Amino acid sequence: MTRTIRTLAVLAATVCMAGSMGFAQSAGEATYKAKCAMCHGAKGAADTPSAKMLKVMPIASPEMKKLSEADMIKATTDGKGKMPSFKGKLSDEQIKEAVVYFRTLK
Ligand code: HEC
Repeated sequence: MTRTIRTLAVLAATVCMAGSMGFAQSAGEATYKAKCAMCHGAKGAADTPSAKMLKVMPIASPEMKKLSEADMIKATTDGKGKMPSFKGKLSDEQIKEAVVYFRTLK
């Protein structure tokens, strides 16, 4: 468990650095790429190694499609299962923007 968290922290740090370099994109897209893409995939397809390890659902899956924007904001704020909570790490505004961008990927 601790090892998983450490691996994810390293992954998160790497993606953060990569994410902070581009400015010619929407805030939601930047946040998504920096904070979400390593687990959900750049296109939301859950095709990254961490996504496979954590069994993340692709954005196009029926389960994901059932979720409203509010459901997704809540899951991202509070965390769900293996999905980390972003409360205190991202502002409410950043979470909303990332979710809105995430929802455009399907
Ligand atoms: C460390 C990997 C990881 C990161 C980073 C991550 N997620 Fe997730 N996410 C998951 C996993 C795993 C699930 C599946 C949770 C479950 O149902 O057990 C999930 C599920 C979700 C869901 C569906 C929740 C539900 O109700 O089923 C949403 C929406 C979501 N993530 C959005 C985001 C957003 C937005 C970000 C970036 C701010 C993000 N995630 C970052 C791993 C991650």
